Amino acid sequence: MRKAYDIGFSTSEQELVLDELPISGTMPDWVEGTLLRNGPGTFKAGDQNYRHWFDGLAMLHKFTFRGGKVAYANKFLECKAYSEAKELGKISYSEFATDPCYSLFDRVKEVFNPRFTDSSKVNIGKLHGKFVALGEPSLQVEFDPETLKSVGVFAYDTKVKQHVTTVHPHFDKDAIINLTTRFGRVSNYRFMQLEKDQPPQLIAKQRVKEPAYIHSFGMSPNYLILVEYPFVVNPLSILFHAKPFIENYKWKPDRGTRIFIFNRHTGELVKQTETDSFFAFHHINAFEQQGELIFDMVTYPDPGIIDAFYLDKIRSEEKKLPGGEIRRYRFDPAREGKAVCEILCEEGVELPCFHYDSLNMDGSYRYVYSIGVNRSEKNSFYDQIVKSDLQTDKSTIWREKNCFPGEPVFLPNPNGKTEDDGVNLSIVLDEANGNSFLLVLNSSDFSEIARATIPQPVLFGYHGNFYKTI
Ligand SMILES: [Fe+2]
Repeated sequence: MRKAYDIGFSTSEQELVLDELPISGTMPDWVEGTLLRNGPGTFKAGDQNYRHWFDGLAMLHKFTFRGGKVAYANKFLECKAYSEAKELGKISYSEFATDPCYSLFDRVKEVFNPRFTDSSKVNIGKLHGKFVALGEPSLQVEFDPETLKSVGVFAYDTKVKQHVTTVHPHFDKDAIINLTTRFGRVSNYRFMQLEKDQPPQLIAKQRVKEPAYIHSFGMSPNYLILVEYPFVVNPLSILFHAKPFIENYKWKPDRGTRIFIFNRHTGELVKQTETDSFFAFHHINAFEQQGELIFDMVTYPDPGIIDAFYLDKIRSEEKKLPGGEIRRYRFDPAREGKAVCEILCEEGVELPCFHYDSLNMDGSYRYVYSIGVNRSEKNSFYDQIVKSDLQTDKSTIWREKNCFPGEPVFLPNPNGKTEDDGVNLSIVLDEANGNSFLLVLNSSDFSEIARATIPQPVLFGYHGNFYKTI
């Protein structure tokens, strides 16, 4: 049976440049700047289909807010995976869970030269003035934020080959820090630091036999936090390209979850501890209080959430998506002892955001904005926006019938007095009308302020960011 949100997993290939979107409501006058978002623009190449939500060919979306008006443009990310798919009418590069159809000859060739996608579709980063489409393979694509045209490639380390990176670098003053993984007979987790006009610097490193699938990491003022879920891979199986990327990983819950804590300033491993097995995509925030290191994450009991994102499962099952639970871990890095875990919010969430600009690494932060699944509906995809109050476990919800929202980017009011004085910006798929709209919510009570209508659907994407200037 066709699901209401199938339209978000199809194709929406038209590239638009529109000076003004129709708006209902009134855009706040302080909302000035550009929202850039990333995600798939199609789940097809020719007549071949991608298999998973994390596949597909990257499309950039740009919303420019000026004088109460909103301009919109979208464009496929120019890259080899896209140009070959267009030219040959078939999938030519390996994605997260989809490989091209190989002949035996191609398979042998791939062993020596695997073609991992350069269609960086997961996030947007402004890395020392360069706008970069971020993906998990090592090569990232720099683009011009005015035209959305690609202008080059970007790597966190130009000397040592990295195989995967997270799409969630952390920013602290002038430093940008990210975690990469290098596969080999001996693999390494590598924390790389970028400072303006300096060569990339390796600031901490951990040898590992079977690296885990790690989508993000934590950073506090003094520590880097690497949470290694027991969802691990024999790196040779990726290098020899036995299966699509993620299908090489195995869930080994008996290993437990290992937590590595590095001193950010010296790179020293200051603590390694274990906790019960769990899986997560996203760290939220991390901070230090009275000698304790505290970090918050959206967690799952196992990596079943990855299976739940195969398109055939999203389309066919009545089963709910697993909801991520917001957990807080704490311990003293200088003492023996395991991490203590506490559940902060039970409402299932994913794609968490908070007031990063002011409250990153600050324990006074209180609100997390995410998407979630309404438990009383039969939808097996995200159909609500959730504001979680970490102090009270109270959730505020926005939802509308037949509407499916994306990540609710938080934009603070520059004159705001409270943490939640601002707006959330979310692209919402409106199934009944067959298109999407950009929703502007009042972050304090989740009332609608305005919506700008896009004349076509925007497929379900992942992450993006708002920039006052581009
Ligand atoms: Fe993410």
